[in-house]
Amino acid sequence: MLDQATRLRELVEARERGETIPANDATPDSRNDRSRIAPRVIAIASGKGGVGKSHVAANLAYCISRAGRKTLLVDADLGMANLDLLLGLTPGRNLGHVVTGQVDLGATLMEGPGGMLFLPGASGLARAADLSENERGRLMDQLFCLEESAELIIIDTGAGISRNVIAFASAADDVLVVTTPEPTAMTDAYALIKVLHGTGYDGRIGVVVNQAVDRAEGRGVYTRLAKTTARFIGRTIYDLGFLPADPQVGLAARNRRPVVACQPAAKVSRAMVELAARLLADGQALHRAHAQPGIFRRIAGLFF
Ligand SMILES: Nc1ncnc2c1ncn2[C@@H]1O[C@H](COP(=O)(O)OP(=O)(O)O)[C@@H](O)[C@H]1O
Ligand SMILES: [Mg+2]
Repeated sequence: MLDQATRLRELVEARERGETIPANDATPDSRNDRSRIAPRVIAIASGKGGVGKSHVAANLAYCISRAGRKTLLVDADLGMANLDLLLGLTPGRNLGHVVTGQVDLGATLMEGPGGMLFLPGASGLARAADLSENERGRLMDQLFCLEESAELIIIDTGAGISRNVIAFASAADDVLVVTTPEPTAMTDAYALIKVLHGTGYDGRIGVVVNQAVDRAEGRGVYTRLAKTTARFIGRTIYDLGFLPADPQVGLAARNRRPVVACQPAAKVSRAMVELAARLLADGQALHRAHAQPGIFRRIAGLFF
């Protein structure tokens, strides 16, 4: 795992020197080792919208797949699915079509930047509640196959604390809560953590402070949030660091590419790489042995 973290840093440094490193070149041995365990699932959530979840999700998926891990990015923002825009992809089909039985899930999968697999989202997924038992069974079977095809699944969720968001978050091994230093974002992050805690969620909750001025501000935000969760709900949350506010993020979005891909030397890109490295380095210890049921069956229980 540490090798992967080191590799991420090497990758970015090499890109800055103008060198190209082939993507997805993990050794066959390490791939075989990893294929024996269930994929690790990381849900990105926030409470408040517009704090940077989708950018974090897209860049993490990019960094991790470039580091040689088979990564699946799922757009589970059922309200405003927009990850395709950040990745420069134009999906013909999405989860909405799968749910209505028009296509197989495999037909919706796309290859994104860095070799990631991408599952485009749709607000139509909310119609899953109307599925017959047969349709639901078919969808679940397809989701299981998907689960076997990735080492790591990153799920971008929507704003708010809806049943859907909580369902995806509580099914994940790690929930990465994105906040900004704004009091409203922090309050909503706390509300999300409280609801998640209330479901009996036993995975890890980590906090990323986005759009911070500097490390000190990021640390301050984390500390305030951590003290609140410890005091009022007795929950430990982990410090996953901060991401600086950087106009390169907006420029990358206009170019429809992850900022790490188009501006690897930008401060925010370096911070994204560090975040990905931290997640990978922690992975071994944090990966809960969740052989079965798989995430999508766990979600299904809450979702349908
Ligand atoms: N670190 C950052 N620096 C500057 N702008 C950012 C940063 N992170 C996000 N943004 C901007 O904030 C807005 C919301 O980002 P987005 O990822 O769509 O949030 P969410 O998915 O939480 O709704 C976008 O306009 C994006 O360009
Ligand atoms: Mg979003």
